[in-house]
Amino acid sequence: MTELSREINDATKIIRKTTNIVPQIAIILGTGLGKLVQNIDINTTISYKDIPHFPVSTVESHEGRLIFGYLSGKPVVCMQGRFHYYEGYGMKEVTFPVRVMKNLGADILLVSNAAGGLNPLFERGDVMLITDHINLLPENPLRGENDESLGPRFPDMLGVYDRDFIKLAEKVALQEKISIRKGVYVSLQGPCFETPAEYRMLRIIGADAVGMSTVPEVIVARHMKMKVLGISIITDMGLPDILEPVSHEIVIKAAEEAEPKLTKLVTAFVKAL
Ligand code: HPA
Repeated sequence: MTELSREINDATKIIRKTTNIVPQIAIILGTGLGKLVQNIDINTTISYKDIPHFPVSTVESHEGRLIFGYLSGKPVVCMQGRFHYYEGYGMKEVTFPVRVMKNLGADILLVSNAAGGLNPLFERGDVMLITDHINLLPENPLRGENDESLGPRFPDMLGVYDRDFIKLAEKVALQEKISIRKGVYVSLQGPCFETPAEYRMLRIIGADAVGMSTVPEVIVARHMKMKVLGISIITDMGLPDILEPVSHEIVIKAAEEAEPKLTKLVTAFVKAL
């Protein structure tokens, strides 16, 4: 057994002492997007600091706990607060919770983030279903020894964002009267926002939205054959010729304003699953 597998089992064992819910769905909520938790019929919460080998979150707007309960009647585990590479964590730490949530039983990952819009047709506050990603992070979470019990050395990256999930999310969005966009998410390490030249480059290489998260967790989820739905909330527009200053505060405010759409969409999506 690899050290990683041992650590996953250690964390799972401790969590199992506090809850016997077997989550079907793992949920990761992005910056300013934590309110979905209010729709969860909560059974147990566990602070990250009480789980062995879990990192502890540093960003103020993240709370740092795992929530177990039922969303639309389905058993879920929700990360309130995620780990970013820019905070100084290694990729193994950033993605460790995904490994644990899968080991607890979750075969589905729903992940959200706050992102800058690159597609000129987008607007601040838009909800974007992620159809694909571009990984511009400096390190891949699968680098190093591969644990064959978790997944293959060279995982396929076609259909990373499950096509049936995207179709279902579109259908649900229509029913709920939420207008949605679809597009490619590119992840950079941050913590700087992009220069105008960088926003232009990211658009040219095929991205519709840019952020500093999600891709590591999704790669690890796919390594373990979890089915993924990714949603970006567009918090600012990265249009190089008419760029306005952006800040963490602006991102949080825009995310919080658009958040009810995300909660509505995810709640209805889980119900429809
Ligand atoms: N760039 C990178 N990350 C982001 C942005 C952005 O413009 N907005 C929200 N997260």
